[in-house]
Parts: sequence; structure tokens; C-alpha cells
Amino acid sequence: MTQQRLAVQLPGLNLKNPIMNSSGAVYFGLEDKYGIEKSGALVTKTITMAQRAGNPQPWVINIPSGVMNSVGLANPGVENVMADFLPKITEKYANDLPVMASIAGESVQEYRELARLLSATGHIMAIEVNLSCPNVDRGGMAFGVDAQSAGEVIAAIKAVTDLPVYAKLSPNVTDIKPIAKAVEAAGADGIVLINTVVGMRFDLNTRAPQLARGTGGMSGAAIHPIAVRFVYEVAQTVTIPVIGVGGIRTVDDALEMLMAGASAVQVGFTLAENPTAMVDIIAALPDALDQYGFDDVQAVTNTFKNSGNRS
Ligand SMILES: Cc1cc2nc3c(=O)[nH]c(=O)nc-3n(C[C@H](O)[C@H](O)[C@H](O)COP(=O)(O)O)c2cc1C
Repeated sequence: MTQQRLAVQLPGLNLKNPIMNSSGAVYFGLEDKYGIEKSGALVTKTITMAQRAGNPQPWVINIPSGVMNSVGLANPGVENVMADFLPKITEKYANDLPVMASIAGESVQEYRELARLLSATGHIMAIEVNLSCPNVDRGGMAFGVDAQSAGEVIAAIKAVTDLPVYAKLSPNVTDIKPIAKAVEAAGADGIVLINTVVGMRFDLNTRAPQLARGTGGMSGAAIHPIAVRFVYEVAQTVTIPVIGVGGIRTVDDALEMLMAGASAVQVGFTLAENPTAMVDIIAALPDALDQYGFDDVQAVTNTFKNSGNRS
């Protein structure tokens, strides 16, 4: 009974519950400490064509209620991921956990090639297209802040894969709606948002930015209300499902995101502070559904009410 109450069906993905990690939060999910086997799905670290060492350190600095990162998509590159990490993931989770591979290219061709290569492995069940990394010089967010480019990337990927394709979008835009519509029109099966919010901090002694690239991407509780707002806007703009991510720490945060329009949620930076956060949220879901009067998780999506007194 509890199992059925928590299950969520997304295009191409049957989730036993709506909770999964966000890309970058658990690398390739081979560590035991996060209880990933209990979650709805595993999302990999973003994979690029070439191996990437990442940006100069520090990669992460603290901000009030979160962190700001400038990792720069450090990852082993697609060949190593296919030869080493993906077989290990399949072995560890015995095909019992939907695996979503996150990809980022420096060109439309690279995105397409990554999707083609990874789809052919048989190790993954969905692709999350990272159109929103703010910490790289080429590609990443550049594709996701322009409706036409975002649509072009998704269309190119859809042409080479039968797997469901989820577009991960950036909050660093004036209006998300045309971008959400463009990826939906290009064939995206779902939208994931938000990636990090671009910020900047200076060191008063050195007078230099605290992060080597100057700017970084903010995560954690500080950005949760921003994420809720984006999920709300996008869920009302498209008919494909939305996966909400940004500052989720508790079961109430997760339910709030679902209420705003998400069908599932991802947990990111919180896992660095509390590795059992996903397990804790999943365990707390049945009682929270009772508390707020919902039969099951799927019934929560889009149940917000407008206050009627907005100015
Ligand atoms: C250290 C770190 C690394 C990240 N790496 C990636 C990544 O490789 N790909 C990606 O799409 N998002 C990446 N993100 C963004 C998160 O997946 C997430 O979208 C964002 O942090 C907001 O969620 P949160 O507040 O729950 O962390 C990273 C975030 C952090 C803090």
C-alpha cells in the first residue's frame, strides 16, 4: 500500500517514489552512504565528451543557507563512464533503479553524440540534458538561456535516441516560459529545474572574487523559493512533467515543490550536509501525505491554490 502511494510514472520512468538525487550531488552513485537504492532514480554527474579536470580550486564556498560552486563539470569523460562507471552502476543496483544520464556538450553535435553513445550502452533509461551549467566557458548554460538553441539541442538528441529526454533548465533568464515551450516543442519528455543561480562574492582582504572564475552557481536552502517559483511557472506553461530541484531539505520542501507543479523532485546540496536526506524524506512521505490530506504522491502535483489577494 505504502509503495503504491509513493509511486510516480514519468515518461519512460517508473519511479517507486518521487525522490532522486540531482546531478553532481552523488557523482556516479557508487557510494553507499546516500541510500540511493531506496530512491526513485539515480541521476549521474554530468558527462561530457572529453574528461574534464574542472575549474581551479576552490570549487565550493559557503554562503548563508547554502553554497556557491564553480566545479566546472569535472568528470571522467564519456568513454571512461561507459567502460567503467555505467557497468558498475548496473551491477550495484541490478537494474532495479532507473538511471538517468546527465550530459553536456560544447556544441549541438556533441550533445547528439553523447546521447547516441550513451543510449547504445543499454545501461541508462533516460537522458537529462544539462542546458544550464553556469561554470563552463563553452556550452552548458549558453544553450539553455536561448529558446532556439535549447530547442535545437533537444531536437538533435531526440533524433538519435528512443529514450526519454529531460531538459534541465537554468533560472538565470528573464523569462523561462519561451524556453520551456521550445524544449517541449522539440520533443522533450520532461523538464528539470532549476540548475544553480549565478552569484558572486569578493574577499575583502585580497579584493578578488572568492571563486577563480569570478562567478559561481548558488545551491541550497537559499534558492528554494526561486526554484518553487520556476517550477510553478513552467508547470503551467507546458504539458510535459516537471521535476523540481533547488534547496530541498525536508519532506515539506518536497511536497511544496510537488504542490507548485512538480511530478518528482531532486535533492542536491542537502546530501553534502545530510547524506541520509533522501532516505529520511522517503520515510516521512506517508505520514506527510496523511497530514496534508493526500491519498498518494501523484495527487499532490499542482494542488496549489492562489491566495486571491495578490498585489
Ligand atoms: C557541487 C555541485 C556540483 C554540481 N554539479 C552539477 C552537474 O554536474 N550537473 C548539473 O546538471 N547540475 C549540477 N549541480 C546543480 C545541482 O544539480 C542542482 O541543480 C542545484 O544545486 C540546485 O539544487 P540544490 O539546491 O538542491 O543543490 C551541482 C551543484 C553543486 C552544489
